[in-house]
Amino acid sequence: CGIVGYIGNHEAAPFLLDGMSKLEYRGYDSAGIAVYENNSIRVEKCVGRLDALRQKLADNMPVGNVGIGHTRWATHGRPSDRNAHPHTDSSGKFVVVHNGIIENYLGLKEELIAKGHEFLSETDSEVVAHLMADQYDGDFEETVKKVLKLIKGSYSLVFMCEYEPDKIICTKKDNPLIIGLGEGENFIASDIPAIINHTRRTFIMSDGEIATVTADGVWVQDINGTPISKKVFVVNWNAEAAEKGGFEHFMLKEIYEQPKALRDTMTSRLDAAAKTIGFPELNWTAEELREINKIFIVACGTAYHAGIVGKYYLEQLARVPVEVDIASEFRYRDPLVDGNSLTIVISQSGETSDTLAALREAKRLGSRTLAVTNVVGSSIAREADQVVYTYAGPEIAVASTKAYTTQLLAMLMLAIYVGRLRGSMSAEREQELVRGLTFVPEQIHKMLENVDQIKVFAREYGSSEDAFFLGRSLDYAVALEGALKLKEISYIHAEAYAAGELKHGTLALIVSGVPVIVLATQMDVYDKTVSNLQEVKAREAVVIAIGFEGDTSLEKYADHVIYIPRTDKYLAPLMAVLPLQLLAYYAALTRGCDVDKPRNLAKSVTVE
Ligand code: G6P
Repeated sequence: CGIVGYIGNHEAAPFLLDGMSKLEYRGYDSAGIAVYENNSIRVEKCVGRLDALRQKLADNMPVGNVGIGHTRWATHGRPSDRNAHPHTDSSGKFVVVHNGIIENYLGLKEELIAKGHEFLSETDSEVVAHLMADQYDGDFEETVKKVLKLIKGSYSLVFMCEYEPDKIICTKKDNPLIIGLGEGENFIASDIPAIINHTRRTFIMSDGEIATVTADGVWVQDINGTPISKKVFVVNWNAEAAEKGGFEHFMLKEIYEQPKALRDTMTSRLDAAAKTIGFPELNWTAEELREINKIFIVACGTAYHAGIVGKYYLEQLARVPVEVDIASEFRYRDPLVDGNSLTIVISQSGETSDTLAALREAKRLGSRTLAVTNVVGSSIAREADQVVYTYAGPEIAVASTKAYTTQLLAMLMLAIYVGRLRGSMSAEREQELVRGLTFVPEQIHKMLENVDQIKVFAREYGSSEDAFFLGRSLDYAVALEGALKLKEISYIHAEAYAAGELKHGTLALIVSGVPVIVLATQMDVYDKTVSNLQEVKAREAVVIAIGFEGDTSLEKYADHVIYIPRTDKYLAPLMAVLPLQLLAYYAALTRGCDVDKPRNLAKSVTVE
């Protein structure tokens, strides 16, 4: 979501709307503002793009010098007028905009309802406004501190309070928030582009800091009231670079957002203490799950590749037979789907027309359905019986990266969960996997700190016209995605093969100097993969192997080795795909391609 705030000697609303327009890439399913007007706070919000809000306000713009605004990317509660931010308590005296996820909102909401609070939305965020009212003791700042002690999760939060209209208070944890410093006015935003036309002098807020912003100054403290002195950071990015968070392309930004995307997708489903997986949003009984005798996974493009990984997960951990289908095939092939089938559709956008049609076909045939999607309230989310959301945030680059890894994670967690309920998975194995999962975001974060080697390979082999990706088992599934990434953005012809299949034809294409990327993270088939590696090496291919740290024996056979952290076989795909995404990215850069908008491709394909 995108957040803005203004307090100062000018009108707030024009800044808010302008700032929000610069943040639409952070979310665009609804928008709203709150402005202190004539001694009370006026809230205006509506579903749709920012233009819908602009039209609504055209003849009746709120007038006042203090305000906050929000463009939403739904996580809890579909896009609607009511679910749009800002949210208020029942009296309308406390107003809040929120970016992130309040994990314990359900429990808090129940307590507040018991105390007589009336909720208008389905969002986790509204709880915060009611908590403010519930905890208010005559001191706005102290109330914010009390509320922060009650909520768990990730957030940037900006508050207004009608009793103290001379200030805005904001705070953050695991979500971005900055303050722009002006003359007689100050600005708040989730991202730099919103303020760059007004000031370049900023405070970058850190987790746990609470800022009280007035027209004349900014006072920062921690939750115990200890003052914090902030260093002014002068932004020297241009507006375009700022949108990309300082990265050259959205794709690179999104690659680097993967640790957070994974953490967000994981947290509400993972009990780190008990080391178990749960899906509060699914209301399946073990009985119902045992009735399922076949799972179909249906998707397009990158989501289809996530589905192939999902097949390995579900078959091996939950012991259910799985078929994976390309949506445009499934819908016309008269699939043998019935009441004992579960059809899982995977779609980042939730709008891909073939996937939607496949979902409808599965329903028509009587299948139970489940959607794994990144967009709350999307068509696919609305029509499926059950939904598991990935919390990757908006993905702008056409080539999917963070959506893919969160889809893998969702499929793995589902497989573990279904496996337990069907009794095919031991508690020890579940604990092992959950433990491993908790390390993954940090492991990926570390991998992303050191990518120089990949840049060198991309420069060295970026002029090749062909490339091959090999692997067995889960490595094969990841190889498919690696090849797709490379071809879609660098236009290098790339093919993925099950390593054992190569000799049945494709080996004829392996000639001197052709780059072959070999994934070797699956230990049960490791020796076989290494033999296949040697087969291509014998044809003088240039081999880049991807293996676990410490597996130096790969260096004997391959020309180059990229190491990933040693982990469980089922977690390896989450990390092995990273070097493949980066190789594709840097190869495309070397070749001067339009990385974020590759030729002929669209992000969301809503035609057949
Ligand atoms: C398009 C995009 C791909 C995406 C596919 C499926 O082809 O370019 O990146 O994987 O659609 O999209 P979905 O939104 O259904 O995951």
